[in-house]
Amino acid sequence: MFPATRTELAGVSLREIARRFGTPTYVYDAAVIERKIDDLKMFDVVRFAQKACSNIAILDLMRRKGVLVDAVSAGEIHRALAAGFQPHAAGDTHPIVYTADIFDRDALAMVLKHDIHVNCGSPDMLEQYGSRKPGANVTLRINPGFGHGHSQKTNTGGEQSKHGIWHEQLDDCLRIADRHGLSVTGLHLHIGSGTDLEHLSQVCGAMEKLAGDVGRTLTTISAGGGLPTIYKAGDTYVDTSVYFSLWDASRKRLEQKFGHKLTLEIEPGRYLVAESGYLVAEIRAIKQMGKNTFYLLDAGFNNLARPILYGSHHPMSIVPGPLDMADASVDATSPRPEVEAVVGGPLCESGDIFTQAEGGFVTTRKLPTAQVGELLVLECAGAYGFAMGSNYNSKPLAAEVLLRNGQAHLIRARQTPEDLTRGEVIPSA
Ligand code: LLP
Repeated sequence: MFPATRTELAGVSLREIARRFGTPTYVYDAAVIERKIDDLKMFDVVRFAQKACSNIAILDLMRRKGVLVDAVSAGEIHRALAAGFQPHAAGDTHPIVYTADIFDRDALAMVLKHDIHVNCGSPDMLEQYGSRKPGANVTLRINPGFGHGHSQKTNTGGEQSKHGIWHEQLDDCLRIADRHGLSVTGLHLHIGSGTDLEHLSQVCGAMEKLAGDVGRTLTTISAGGGLPTIYKAGDTYVDTSVYFSLWDASRKRLEQKFGHKLTLEIEPGRYLVAESGYLVAEIRAIKQMGKNTFYLLDAGFNNLARPILYGSHHPMSIVPGPLDMADASVDATSPRPEVEAVVGGPLCESGDIFTQAEGGFVTTRKLPTAQVGELLVLECAGAYGFAMGSNYNSKPLAAEVLLRNGQAHLIRARQTPEDLTRGEVIPSA
């Protein structure tokens, strides 16, 4: 399923990509994103949780495929507008929805300025919005009292989570809404990221109960995100048609009860983009530390933080042939012996290791033997990859490239040294 070596992605040579754009570079295959969107087209609305991958070229691709967008900050609203999403549309479908547990002052100003629909995750947020925009329609995000994610850090339900309005406070929130003349038209549940069908399906029951409590003002219910994707052999997808059927049945029961139609939304991040994305890095050193072989790359947790944060596994492949070698001299076909390697980055921090289990325990990966100057590709990195990148160790943010119809398009230039110090000021004596 995941090859040990690769020479190209979507018909474009990886060595060519590295030569043209440098490394580390994120590469996205547009066709994969389009296929993933199509998988979910039975839902009335597919709303992309852009926190997973928010480059405006990716948002533009989503918009052209009819996907709507979620924003969790003023910055993400800015991105959605820059990608051509309208702030609001006639009727109930909102091209952009702001979903959060708080309004910082910038976000509140932005939603008011552009009349962006709001999904409130706390009573205070509802109060603040109601006092500034009485009479508006709102969505409530409810924490149903349970949750599940691929890591404890991505579980967004239950008492340990800060997310959403606690389910027992729904009545209080309906009273706050009444006081400001707000109409609760949407209900939203998102129990965690990278969960499974068993947990996801429990959400439908919770939605039916909560929607019954809100009543006939509702026009939209959202299943949230959380659909898992594949990171290694043996991982499984959720059967999206089974998942849809569960939600559709709940929706229909609620429609029966209310006597009007309900729009059913889903809000995936990971599912739409994870498998489209590759982080292309160059092996810059190979060292032997006692019995461990280390492949050290020019990409680190400043580029892909998921392994250090969650012990996440990303497939890896080697691109045969040092970059400096002429293509004609590269032997891309001879089998190579394998080696158990620890794969790490350039940062001055011991945790800068891509092969680690949750808790920071260093592991190894069976990889083809490689040489300094060859490329190593970290795969399934499109979701929460670039988006969680940082400038730690004053490393520039990576370039991003979109592959479409056999062509590589630069969609974000690598940061320059000047970008790193932009805005910094030495005070005059
Ligand atoms: N909706 C809401 C309200 C969310 O908080 C999230 C994710 C999503 C949708 C999208 O969830 P997804 O479909 O991607 O599972 N950095 C972590 C994931 C954090 C998820 C945060 N919220 C990771 O790399 O696994």
